[in-house]
Amino acid sequence: MNMDEEREIASIRVGDRIRRALGDIGPLAENIREVGRMLHPIVVDQDGHLIAGRRRLEAARRLGWTRVPVRVLDLRGLLARKAEASENLYRLPLNPVEAEAAWQVLLPMAREAARERQKEGAKTGGRGHKKTLGKLSTRFSVPEVRKARSRAAKATGYSHRTLEKVQVVREASEKDPDKYKPLLDKLDKPNAKVDKVFSEFKKLKVKLDPPALASSEYGDGRVRMLQGDFLQVPLSQLSVGSVNMVITSPPYNLAKGYGAEGDQMSAEEYRAFTGKWLAKAYAVLADKGRCCVNVPFDVGLGDQDLPVYSIVVQAALAVGFRYMFTIVWHKGPSSKRTAWGSYGKPSAPHYQSECEAVVVLYKGSWARPPSGTVDITETEFQDWTAGPWTFPGQPAAQAGGHPAAFPVELPKRLLKLFGYVGDTVLDPFMGSGSTLLACKGCGREGIGVEVEPSYVKAAAERLGFRP
Ligand SMILES: C[S@@+](CC[C@H](N)C(=O)[O-])C[C@H]1O[C@@H](n2cnc3c(N)ncnc32)[C@H](O)[C@@H]1O
Repeated sequence: MNMDEEREIASIRVGDRIRRALGDIGPLAENIREVGRMLHPIVVDQDGHLIAGRRRLEAARRLGWTRVPVRVLDLRGLLARKAEASENLYRLPLNPVEAEAAWQVLLPMAREAARERQKEGAKTGGRGHKKTLGKLSTRFSVPEVRKARSRAAKATGYSHRTLEKVQVVREASEKDPDKYKPLLDKLDKPNAKVDKVFSEFKKLKVKLDPPALASSEYGDGRVRMLQGDFLQVPLSQLSVGSVNMVITSPPYNLAKGYGAEGDQMSAEEYRAFTGKWLAKAYAVLADKGRCCVNVPFDVGLGDQDLPVYSIVVQAALAVGFRYMFTIVWHKGPSSKRTAWGSYGKPSAPHYQSECEAVVVLYKGSWARPPSGTVDITETEFQDWTAGPWTFPGQPAAQAGGHPAAFPVELPKRLLKLFGYVGDTVLDPFMGSGSTLLACKGCGREGIGVEVEPSYVKAAAERLGFRP
């Protein structure tokens, strides 16, 4: 007869195990702690030998439990050893496709748990801030979203970045099984190499679905927009060698979720991507051309191996740019402030910057021939060449819903301070078209590239442009 009871952990006898690695016990322990009990009891034979539940037992120990629920199986001798072996040996890890499916189930729960924790944090926060925090805590801050994603992923034995790659392949395969199902099948196997299959997928995608390049002229403002991946746009379409300025704000790797394009590369991928686009920007610039890159100093997530600002500066120097200076743009507080870290205590506070950087780089030498038409006023020159630039960020609603647009004021100042009327200006990550709007307003030729078709459409609307 089988019986359930509670037993002292110390009384359970764990034999030698062939599979010694228990994997990451943290998420399991966290889950048991949150639920407040084990969903399945530990299984032992009549003599107290462990048959199943080695990881649960370890999790309980870590939680400081001394007793655990136990099911006693009436098994003897060989049968007990066989049951133990099948539990211990034949427990296969999830394959990437199974893990991604499990992740999709766990993710909403992890997010809900994060929300609950956040509310709890708000309740126990400082008295004076209780009300404000309570209100703010109904929103998610990016760090919490990230934590929920990776927490849920850990429970499957994979990282969230790996599972995101599987997700991309799965979604492509659902949309177009003839093209992509064979790649998903490769992932649906134990020990499948996700990175290898994902790079096959990217190559295949470029071959089968080349990014549409739609080039169009905008009326008398001479503003052109190209839809596609900047890295894939042929140089012949970018006025190579005659671009006087690049003004842009690249993806920050902040999981912004730009339409179909995610913004969540690994640090290594992000560094490689930054090097590639800066090398291409360098190639298209005329001699003495200038390049202004707007990025946050960091993405406020803590524990970053290299802040985004530093990645951009290092990559720019590596591809041949020279560094001039950094303009600090004070855009004011974020309306989404929720990340306080260890609220009210110094143990692990967070910091939210109200400033962003505009890195100013150049090709060859800094001084441009003083021969063009200048449109900056004396007061503007005095104001814009000292101290931080202070003006608010761009509300998404007035930028076609783009989540990370900069206000037209930013490229307008850069155009006037660093260039002449009639210059050719490139924005390789045009987004909602703010740089092109500034070009149109200041009599510059503008070329904008944007990978996400819906943003190209939004930019066209902002510019009053009919394709
Ligand atoms: C920070 S936003 C730029 C916002 C823009 N400054 C504005 O004011 O709207 C970065 C943009 O780059 C786009 N993007 C990401 N990867 C790209 C690529 N490889 N080629 C072209 N555009 C890309 C994203 O879709 C996003 O719209």
